[in-house]
Amino acid sequence: MKGKAEVIIGAQWGDEGKGRIVDSLADRVDVVVRYQGGANAGHTVVVEGEKHIFHLLPSGMLYPGKTCVIGNGVVVDPEQFLSEIGELREKRKDKARLVLSEASHVVMPYHKIIDEAEEKRRSKGRKIGTTKRGIGPCYADKVNRIGIRVGDLLDPDSLRMKIIENLEIKNLLLTRIFNLPPIAFDDLMEKALDWGQQMRPYIGDGTAIVNEALDKGRGVLFEGAQGTLLDIDHGTYPFVTSSSAAAGGACIGSGIGPTRIDRVLGVAKAYCTRVGEGPFPTEELGEIGERLREAGGEYGATTGRPRRCGWLDMVALRYAVRVNGLGGIALTKLDVLTGLEQIKVCTAYEIEGRRHEILPSRLPEREDIQLHYESLKGWKEDLANCRRVEDLPPEAREYVRFIEENCKVPVVLIGVGSGREQTILCGL
Ligand code: GDP
Ligand code: IMO
Ligand code: MG
Repeated sequence: MKGKAEVIIGAQWGDEGKGRIVDSLADRVDVVVRYQGGANAGHTVVVEGEKHIFHLLPSGMLYPGKTCVIGNGVVVDPEQFLSEIGELREKRKDKARLVLSEASHVVMPYHKIIDEAEEKRRSKGRKIGTTKRGIGPCYADKVNRIGIRVGDLLDPDSLRMKIIENLEIKNLLLTRIFNLPPIAFDDLMEKALDWGQQMRPYIGDGTAIVNEALDKGRGVLFEGAQGTLLDIDHGTYPFVTSSSAAAGGACIGSGIGPTRIDRVLGVAKAYCTRVGEGPFPTEELGEIGERLREAGGEYGATTGRPRRCGWLDMVALRYAVRVNGLGGIALTKLDVLTGLEQIKVCTAYEIEGRRHEILPSRLPEREDIQLHYESLKGWKEDLANCRRVEDLPPEAREYVRFIEENCKVPVVLIGVGSGREQTILCGL
């Protein structure tokens, strides 16, 4: 792993357990980089029974001697950033050196207000179910070239111009379209300058740090947020987030060239979940869905919303293998399936008489997709203490083998509980 660049991405709809995988692998590298998304992410890491949920900070923060970078591709809510680092510092768990890229964009208060107002305004069937963290509006401003970057917070003159330019439009939008009060310039300017001063010790050149680490032969982990099916280009548009959650985002969001990446690891749950609206073909609305939700503790780490649950979807997973160029799968939450008599896996979709083994670029309505399932035998044994593949009951091993065979990518890590040590390394 030394001197290598490995990208960890979500291979489904987010919440696959990326944080805990990054935490498990971080001891082998020197640098951990978050490169897209913002405080919409909730990455859970459990160490010695203590739970940490990272929204903006990379999941390598708990390791002394490491460097954690928030890359240029992340959208940073300053209040969230300061409260997260503050909380960690209070617990004396801010072990790593933290660098916040000056080119990352600032989620301004108006982004969050507009996110919520737009969501409220969307009609039934058009709602996305966003996390209301201002993600979409902030990325929209970035692409529209009117965004405010973290580095701007340190330059009062340029900041003033940019806030004036933004408020001219935002206040019209707030008052005339959404019927909401306008935002006062003085208050916002004062706040933004204060954020800049508090964030100053962390602000730096993220791209230089990451590239220099690789130049020196150091190991770097790139920590994705959200998941492939939520990617702005490759996800189930428009029911997606506003950033590149697929592996390509690691290059754009941190400033490394694609040739530097050695391997992409996809994190997939042993079943599927989705939070918010949008297509989820294998969703189970009845007893099975409820059982997976309770056994897996499937409630959002950011919003607390119950996650929609269903069987593993190989059609979606093969698609994730394709668009991310996966070299391995980290299969999490295998323990959650314990006790099920039969475990179903969706192996193909049939749409208008045509069989699809990989997700097609356009998904029709759920009722127009016929799902083909295979059923595998379940197991009763508790997996929590399994540490080697041989410790798993034969049916669980067969389930893993079935996944490998069906997506033609090795399962290199298996999660059997949320604790740092509850992993089986099988190919790393
Ligand atoms: P992320 O957003 O991809 O980092 O995932 P989340 O943290 O939002 O959700 C994953 C949840 O599953 C968290 O509560 C983790 O503690 C938990 N988890 C991760 N891996 C495992 C596992 O192998 N087994 C069990 N039982 N829980 C796990
Ligand atoms: P992690 O990194 C699961 C979903 C939201 C919504 C859609 C758009 O913890 O896996 P946004 O606020 O991004 O504009 O919402 O994307 N979503 C996530 N779902 N895990 C996440 O992050 C998510 N981040 C956003 O529920 O459907
Ligand atoms: Mg999450």
